Amino acid sequence: MSIPAGGAGIYTVPVRLDAMEGDTGMWTYAGRDTAIDLGSSTVRMHVAGRGIVCREPSVLARSRRTGRILALGTPALEMAGRDPDADLVRPVREGAPTDTDEVEYLMRRLVRRHLRRHYTARPRLVVTVPSGVNSVYARALEFSAYQAGARRVTLVPVPVAAAAGMGLITGGRAVAVVADIGAELTDVGVIAFGGLVTAHTVAVGGTHLDRAIAALARQEFGVALSPAEAEAAKLAVGTAPCPGRRPVRAVTVHGRDVETGLPRPVELTTRDVQGAIAKPVEEIVEAIRAGLRGCAPEIAGDLLSAGISLTGGSSRLPGLDRLIGDRTGLTAVVRDPTGDAAVIGAAEVHRAVGDRPELPDPRRPLARLTTSVPQF
Ligand SMILES: Nc1ncnc2c1ncn2[C@@H]1O[C@H](COP(=O)(O)OP(=O)(O)OP(=O)(O)O)[C@@H](O)[C@H]1O
Ligand SMILES: [Mg+2]
Repeated sequence: MSIPAGGAGIYTVPVRLDAMEGDTGMWTYAGRDTAIDLGSSTVRMHVAGRGIVCREPSVLARSRRTGRILALGTPALEMAGRDPDADLVRPVREGAPTDTDEVEYLMRRLVRRHLRRHYTARPRLVVTVPSGVNSVYARALEFSAYQAGARRVTLVPVPVAAAAGMGLITGGRAVAVVADIGAELTDVGVIAFGGLVTAHTVAVGGTHLDRAIAALARQEFGVALSPAEAEAAKLAVGTAPCPGRRPVRAVTVHGRDVETGLPRPVELTTRDVQGAIAKPVEEIVEAIRAGLRGCAPEIAGDLLSAGISLTGGSSRLPGLDRLIGDRTGLTAVVRDPTGDAAVIGAAEVHRAVGDRPELPDPRRPLARLTTSVPQF
């Protein structure tokens, strides 16, 4: 997926740079501006004046018998494989809603838990979306957010939000390159004048590395690993394939023997994991190269001096920054070690959209994809 500047066509709005001061009305106070980074693996929420109020796995447990939602987030994850009635569902896949009811449930519960208990009015919501989101998914998300209780919804592409969260949006002509390497997506955006110049989204991320490790354990050792165990192996000994020699470490993870069906430990070394994840890591690097290829030659010099700012959980894979640097010729630095940049930046976007009318106008849907943030 690749989009030109301006995002998903009909959703683009001109940003009001003069709106930064006008946000102290009663409604803002009562409803509290809220930002949600709706990731495929983690949902983060930021409330104005309180900061980040939640980081939950974006997963629900649904009852097989009744179809009702039993739990959300960490409690839902703990039910996996333990509660025979619980089916794990991920409402967000590759950054897009898989089921509007489930996304709505997720957002409604979070809004109730962190807002409605404290404030009476409905919040204005900024939600992050992949830069390559198509208008069908954008509409579905917008619908779910209103159903979940939002007073107004603004969608913002992840690279723009992350750039704002990392303090890279200066408003001038200076270029910033952001690569968000998450669980299921790699989203690359080039930003100048506070807006998106080009963007490129590819469906590859941390879960692909986990799957590659699980495939290796099955083929080489005859052990079926759960996604959580495969991820644990990656976090313990995973490194990007790189020329420098790294000490070989090992980790023991537990799975089910494919032949006997019995539980069995298996030891995986750095070298095993490196070999297994080489292909998806290469896809991530290629996605970033493709994102850069969309840029005009006029800004080549700016790209070289800006370097690539990495964000997203998978950018923390040891050695990945160096590998990206080697393969693109640009310095790549992890600027967001916590993974919170996108939600913090999305909170800033409230200031960019300012005090647009609150009342729905049938000719102009309220939710928009804003591709710029104001000059700070
Ligand atoms: N230190 C680390 N090394 C390697 N991978 C990591 C590390 N920490 C987290 N991850 C991986 O990062 C991924 C989660 O990242 P993040 O929270 O940015 O994803 P997300 O925003 O939910 O997903 P997406 O943006 O793709 O929709 C997981 O796959 C996790 O295994
Ligand atoms: Mg993300």
